[in-house]
Amino acid sequence: MNFRMLVLFSILICSSLMMGQNKAKPWPNYEHQIDSVMSLMSLDDKIGQLNQVAHGWGWGPTQPVSIGQDFKKLIKEGKVGSFLNAVGAKLTKELQKIAVTESPVKIPLLFGFDVIHGLQTTFPIPLAESCTWDMDLIEKSASTQAKEAYNCGVHWTFAPMVDIARDPRWGRIAEGSGEDTYLGSQIAAARIKGLQGDNLSGEHIIACPKHFAAYGAAEGGRDYNTVDISERTLREVYLPPFKAAVDAGAQTLMCSFNEISGTPSSVNKHLLTDILRNEWNFSGFIVSDWNSIGETVAHGISADNKEAAKKAINAGLDMDMETRAYINNLKDLVKEGEVSVSTIDESVRRILRVKFRLGLFSDPFRFCDEKKEATEIGNAAERAAALEVTENSLVLLKNKNNILPLAKSLQKIAVIGPLANSKRNLLGCWEQFGDTNKVVTALEGLQKKYPGKEITYAFGCSINNPEERDFSAAIKAANESELVVLAIGEDGHFSGEASARTSIEIPGAQTALFEALRKCGKPIVVVLMNGRPLAIPAIEKNADAILDAWFGGITAGDAIANALSGDFVPCGKLTTTFPLATGQVPIYYNHKNTGRPAQPDNFFSSKYIDLSEKPLFPFGYGLSYSTFEYSDLKIDDKNISSAETNHVTVKVTNTGKYKASEVVQLYINRNPASVTRPVRELKDFQKITLNPGESKTVTLELNPEKLSFYNDKMEFRNEPGKVTVFVGTNSLADLSGQFTITNSK
Ligand code: BGC
Repeated sequence: MNFRMLVLFSILICSSLMMGQNKAKPWPNYEHQIDSVMSLMSLDDKIGQLNQVAHGWGWGPTQPVSIGQDFKKLIKEGKVGSFLNAVGAKLTKELQKIAVTESPVKIPLLFGFDVIHGLQTTFPIPLAESCTWDMDLIEKSASTQAKEAYNCGVHWTFAPMVDIARDPRWGRIAEGSGEDTYLGSQIAAARIKGLQGDNLSGEHIIACPKHFAAYGAAEGGRDYNTVDISERTLREVYLPPFKAAVDAGAQTLMCSFNEISGTPSSVNKHLLTDILRNEWNFSGFIVSDWNSIGETVAHGISADNKEAAKKAINAGLDMDMETRAYINNLKDLVKEGEVSVSTIDESVRRILRVKFRLGLFSDPFRFCDEKKEATEIGNAAERAAALEVTENSLVLLKNKNNILPLAKSLQKIAVIGPLANSKRNLLGCWEQFGDTNKVVTALEGLQKKYPGKEITYAFGCSINNPEERDFSAAIKAANESELVVLAIGEDGHFSGEASARTSIEIPGAQTALFEALRKCGKPIVVVLMNGRPLAIPAIEKNADAILDAWFGGITAGDAIANALSGDFVPCGKLTTTFPLATGQVPIYYNHKNTGRPAQPDNFFSSKYIDLSEKPLFPFGYGLSYSTFEYSDLKIDDKNISSAETNHVTVKVTNTGKYKASEVVQLYINRNPASVTRPVRELKDFQKITLNPGESKTVTLELNPEKLSFYNDKMEFRNEPGKVTVFVGTNSLADLSGQFTITNSK
């Protein structure tokens, strides 16, 4: 055994011992082992760790894959720190073996993959999942998805996307948690906990909150577009979910494609170093987005990839995804004195630290068990977990005359629409290895639920092409039925990356189909399938019921059938505002008041001349088959000091006939303040379940952090002043009270 082998051997032994203790927080200290590994590395080896390469698409975790010799050569030469899109126990084992036996320093590779809402067991899209407002469920969902990924050789997912999105034209709104910063932060933390588990022990993987930062603020909702926002908006609206993710232990972060006020994130030292490392003490590493370092050339601030590499590494960006700007240029930049070895060392250390924390040095193959891969993926437990999330994500938007749940006496149901029996669309964007054969559609779900009823199906029209329609069969089916279930909305790929829309109305001939069916005079229950909020005023006006089912994943049809039949009582609440028309966008509940708030009788007030300024459905909205009454709002203390916590209690009674869940929401307004504040801000919520007639007193909390904001000097403070609280079932809640924050008490 030579010296190099001896050092590596002792590192492996030490880190195996430490793995046993890996459950406890904080993380074990690996700095000595990192020193030892670093002592073996040449500058080339170090730069290799900063390079992430991607294998192409078109394979499955259980299918045989061959990987090009060029990739294997790169690994052998130590020029790859991480591999993107290589999935499957067999493939990752093969590549890992090359890294740990044939590369110069034998450092294990890190395998990354986008597990956005499941690897093979497709859960609902994240936007749908956010409508559950259920942190335990969201954590469990992430942990189930992590387990599947783990058993497929995936070490690292590029999730969760924690970008706040106020503009539903932006297709990536589907990948996040909606428009609210407080809720988004809670969900970010829950997803990190679910993915990473207890310090990455067991079947957990590394999370990568993205896209840092403010990617959701792209102008016009167009993907990759310019962002120009104030430091206040950045810090108050867009950064908190990232901070929550970092506090929850996220080990990596991905920077965004966009610029903010002139500086693309990949080269933004203010974001990557000043805020993330110096203010937040982030100890993991940052990966670029796909070719985002190289794209700073097109942004117009780097002459070429070499300058881009220099700017990115000096700004604090550790790993280069797919530009190959680091591997091709950093050595020269060091020679030329443009990048210091210590800067490179620091980035390498961060990457090695994460590899140690994941246990790769003690067992580089711990994710590559082919036997487990064969049994642990896509099984019944995962499916059951997905169904629970899908059910809870359904949002009941309308239920005229309590037409839902469907009457047991109904015998003939027409199930109509382009989305009624489409499997692929239900997987939504980023479907990855989602198995279309395993998807249950709304039609199939209803057929399973009601074997004794006559269920007829008609396609009606295509999703997007207005010419592709067959209304006559749909009308016939409607005429011969007692009730129509109409599944309409968007194509599953109308949201996600590079899928911005200028019109968020329902596309194609679907609204015309709805109007044609109305003439049949049968009640119409619309099941919406969508990756973003939609502007559907005509549907809202004339449908008898609307159930928003989003893209519900492989169990969508079962969840829909359970909800329509009443076996599951819908309880989802919107996490994005539904506008009346695209022209209202951006429209979000926590806007500022303006100097001239909209007044119907004042022409010169902040409104439109052709449409109301109000939304179709507000943030936090969602009906139940039951009803809830809110009463007895009490504020613990009418005067508190800025260091104190206040509590708000409210009595909630289930006044309906069904056992049902409700999300009790608390909003505040601070007025006057040293800077203008949003009209309302969500600050706490609780999801409760009540039997018919049951009441519960819910206690909600307002601590100094929740009450603080950036004041006129950009200091984060809990200013003295008046606080108005609103408690209720959505962001229009009218039960309110007040208290005062004083500095002396
Ligand atoms: C997306 C990221 C994703 C990455 C790797 C990029 O185009 O913006 O969200 O993680 O590709 O697939």
